[in-house]
Amino acid sequence: MDFHLRELVTSVGGINHCVTEFVRVNQQLYPAKVFHRYCPELANQGKTLAGTPVHVQLLGSDPVCMAENAAKAASLGAPAIDLNFGCPAKTVNKSQGGAVLLQYPEVLHQVATAVRKAVPAHVPVSAKMRLGFKDKSLALDNAQALESAGIQWLTVHARTKTEGYKPPAHWEWIEKIRASVQIPVLANGEIWTTDNAIRCEAVAGTNLLMIGRGLVATPDLALRIRRQYGQLEHTDFQFRDYMILFKRLAERLDYLTDKQLTDRLKQWLHYFAMHSPEMAEVFRSVRTFRERPAFFTALDNALTAADQGATDQTGSIVSDHHRS
Ligand SMILES: Cc1cc2nc3c(=O)[nH]c(=O)nc-3n(C[C@H](O)[C@H](O)[C@H](O)COP(=O)(O)O)c2cc1C
Repeated sequence: MDFHLRELVTSVGGINHCVTEFVRVNQQLYPAKVFHRYCPELANQGKTLAGTPVHVQLLGSDPVCMAENAAKAASLGAPAIDLNFGCPAKTVNKSQGGAVLLQYPEVLHQVATAVRKAVPAHVPVSAKMRLGFKDKSLALDNAQALESAGIQWLTVHARTKTEGYKPPAHWEWIEKIRASVQIPVLANGEIWTTDNAIRCEAVAGTNLLMIGRGLVATPDLALRIRRQYGQLEHTDFQFRDYMILFKRLAERLDYLTDKQLTDRLKQWLHYFAMHSPEMAEVFRSVRTFRERPAFFTALDNALTAADQGATDQTGSIVSDHHRS
């Protein structure tokens, strides 16, 4: 997630920590301003305004360069360093970073060892991996190579690079990996609902969950999951709550051009629309607009119509379908 989404979703709550977008490390030691660009929270002791720590994510294959940049991020106040061994993007793999390295457990080990040695002991180093590049044959080797490098925990996106983002996520492999290492293993992939979280916990054998797109689609998903576990009271977000968050994002992005802003907002609306018929309606009403005034007028109209509907009908904007 970028800075703006991190601010918004951590203001909703329920999250222990979040991670920056990856800083691609390629033969140079970046100046402080680069780390501050990826992680403006460094100016706030590495935390969002809500107080949630933000870990700095690095991607690369050169142990020396990765170590130098990790040490720099730590010296700037990064609460933890996360190493990316899961990114499937072609350009990334060509420059030897991300999931391509899952074919070479010894390289994972070298990178993680160098980073662990370079970063002060009080700053955790973690890694995130997929189950493999083309197949899962090295999944346990890769996890053990990272553990023996001294990392503090491992997040596993339960798919290979070749499997991309195609459901299902193979949570049963997280259980296998968990059984083969001592460090905590965080389960990731296809957790969109509280039911998914419960099922993932049962299959993967851990309640340490990393949520990606599910939190973008449902910003209160972490709270919902915690309520399910009996960890706190929480009333699910209603349509108006989503709209308030949405408007806050629009305000934060006031420096973008009209086209950039409306594209970005439509992207988020699209995620909201996946589980909310009301938001799907809002998405339909704004999808053709590329300029701020028309876009925001359509948003206001949708909100007024929804409020009107709520007053006219059940007193709640959320339909029975959504509630169920
Ligand atoms: C737009 C986008 C950006 C992502 N960026 C990263 C990244 O920088 N580092 C990383 O390890 N994974 C990244 N991922 C993968 C997610 O962290 C996660 O592993 C994947 O989406 C599966 O989890 P989910 O089903 O909860 O989304 C990204 C995914 C998406 C959709």
